[in-house]
Amino acid sequence: MGEGISDYTKFCIDLRRHMWMAGVEMELRRLIWQIAVTGKYISAKIHESNRKLAGFKNIYGEEQLSLDRSADTILKNQLQFSGFVREYASEEQDAVVHIGEGSEKYFVTADPLDGSSLVDSNLSIGTIIGIHNGSMMGDGRNTIVAALYITYGPLITMVYSAGKGTHEFVLNREGEYVLSQENIRLKKRGYIYCLGGLRKDWTQSHLQFVEYLEAEGYTLRYSGGFVPDINQLLIKNGGVFTYPALKKNPNGKLRLLFELQPMAFLMEQAGGSATDGKKNILDIPVDDIGQRSPIYIGSHFEVEKARAFLEKA
Ligand code: F6P
Ligand code: MN
Repeated sequence: MGEGISDYTKFCIDLRRHMWMAGVEMELRRLIWQIAVTGKYISAKIHESNRKLAGFKNIYGEEQLSLDRSADTILKNQLQFSGFVREYASEEQDAVVHIGEGSEKYFVTADPLDGSSLVDSNLSIGTIIGIHNGSMMGDGRNTIVAALYITYGPLITMVYSAGKGTHEFVLNREGEYVLSQENIRLKKRGYIYCLGGLRKDWTQSHLQFVEYLEAEGYTLRYSGGFVPDINQLLIKNGGVFTYPALKKNPNGKLRLLFELQPMAFLMEQAGGSATDGKKNILDIPVDDIGQRSPIYIGSHFEVEKARAFLEKA
């Protein structure tokens, strides 16, 4: 008998089945599923509007492609009709948007299209999502219940955690997210390092940490897209990504709510860790949606090493 589509798919575990088997609560399951499906619409938009610069600026003054706005609108509209989301906060909006009626359980944060300036050079870009229960402000650890990212690269993949490990799915040609790696685990120590920011802007203690990694023979792997850079650490099972405090920007570049908390959650669920140099990322209180923080994220050994170098400062 030939290998028809049904023969093939019946041996795959798709996202919905995985979440059900893992005991993820029903509303959360539906919400994660809906966001994953929204990733397909965003990907269609990327294909449709490739290379068209619209010249918008976002509220942080960075160059923005119209694609960022489209992705934001698609996400907001999809979540609005889910019935599970009370508030939506996005890197593309200057304030939290109340999209529910007020009684919904979940608060969703989004970086709708991270790394969108890489589109014209055809590098991978991604969507980052955090799902919080009750509130999205305060310590992430008390509120975040799930996180996921979608990578738009040669393949479209989705990595999620609902607090029961971190798992990867690949979008197949039949339009299903099928399980590709269950329970991703980081090694205690890796061999890859990713360095954000310019060397001339680094602090002395950060520079010393990087010199340590270089002396130890770590391999530099930095695409400039947060999603594929973090994805590489998870899929290659270790290493470290840093976007440090800079001399002129002590809080670095990346945003706690939209970028760092979801990745810290996924990383911790895979046995890794994330710190700003002193505190764990999930223990830093958030009181402003645009709040930034330095980050050292990845394998336990490298993150602890970073902490030790920064302590000396
Ligand atoms: O969202 C900001 C971002 O594009 C991330 O995807 C990436 O990690 C970072 O900026 C890269 O910054 P830089 O170009 O300063 O290294
Ligand atoms: Mn971003």
